[in-house]
Amino acid sequence: MSSVIEKGLKRSIEQSEFMAASLMDQPDRLPKTTEKDGTLVTSDTHWWCSGFFSGTLWMLYEATGNETLKKYAENYTMRIEKEQYALDTHDLGFMMNCSFGNGYRITGNENYKKILLQSARSLATRYNENIGVIRSWDNKPKWMYPVIIDNLMNLELLENAYKLSQDSLFDKIANSHATITITNHFRPDYSSCHVVDYDTITNKALKMDTHQGYSSTSAWARGQAWGLYGYTMMYRETGKPEYLEQARKVARFIKNHPNLPSDKVPYWDFDAPDIPNTPRDASAAAVMASALIELSQLDKSEEASAWFDLAEAQIRSLSSPDYLAEFGTNGGFILKHSVGNLNKNSEVDVPLSYADYYYVEALLRLKKLQNEN
Ligand code: GLY
Repeated sequence: MSSVIEKGLKRSIEQSEFMAASLMDQPDRLPKTTEKDGTLVTSDTHWWCSGFFSGTLWMLYEATGNETLKKYAENYTMRIEKEQYALDTHDLGFMMNCSFGNGYRITGNENYKKILLQSARSLATRYNENIGVIRSWDNKPKWMYPVIIDNLMNLELLENAYKLSQDSLFDKIANSHATITITNHFRPDYSSCHVVDYDTITNKALKMDTHQGYSSTSAWARGQAWGLYGYTMMYRETGKPEYLEQARKVARFIKNHPNLPSDKVPYWDFDAPDIPNTPRDASAAAVMASALIELSQLDKSEEASAWFDLAEAQIRSLSSPDYLAEFGTNGGFILKHSVGNLNKNSEVDVPLSYADYYYVEALLRLKKLQNEN
């Protein structure tokens, strides 16, 4: 496994430097994906993925001490500074914690801390205390108060802000959202739907639905990954046994699913009707792998080694030529073959910045464990 990790990290550094250099003349743009011909497609700062690239740069800087990576990390982090005031997105955790959160953890820069706290205050404005959860989208009239499983990931910003400020409101909101999501997003087999719509009059869940999954009863692969990561992270932050239990149940669902392929990189939806002739989602595998490595350390039961083995299998596959891009290709992204939103024919079988972020996080988690043993 050591050589797999070293190869993956070396390629990640080469690709990230190449990508960072390629956008230095466009100071308000961030890498998003590629065209089919490999041309880089960029986003503005408000896109939900605007913080992943700088987060990747920070993690690689931390692992290497390479000052060029640090300069790039600082540059790409500050590009999104103004988003700390955004009130119309639930994705501020992804955006600001992956960028400024890693930056603050690694450098202790006080300006980053201020920006993180403001971002958490902005995110907290989307919390409805009667329903007990943070609202996802505003402009989708099909739903009254939609909440997506992905939103669990944004709770890490609130837990970080709680630690930095001791303001217990952040912790209260994060715990309420995570606990109510266990009740309303999960089915008896511990798969989750993508969207739950809440009724703002009764404050109860109205229905389970989907936006990016195959159907309201299917298991959208990245949604299962967000759930696994979200509850593992919430257990790390709070020590509450119910979050560990939920993470283990989701991990079991993924590990034992008959449609999980032998290379352990899931199809975009576990219930896609055209399996095996449908795209894989490398981003889901990367998020799962990173979460499973952490879960394998937090879970003191005999299942822990199964979580670790599954994560290693996913990282081996992602580090093979099937998924790992050659240097100078793939628009500078590290991994190939992710799916954004297949239902809208958007970002299908392409590189995505969050696949890269969680792949690098997983590699570094594995490397840290190897160094400790
Ligand atoms: N949070 C959006 C996605 O996972 O595609």
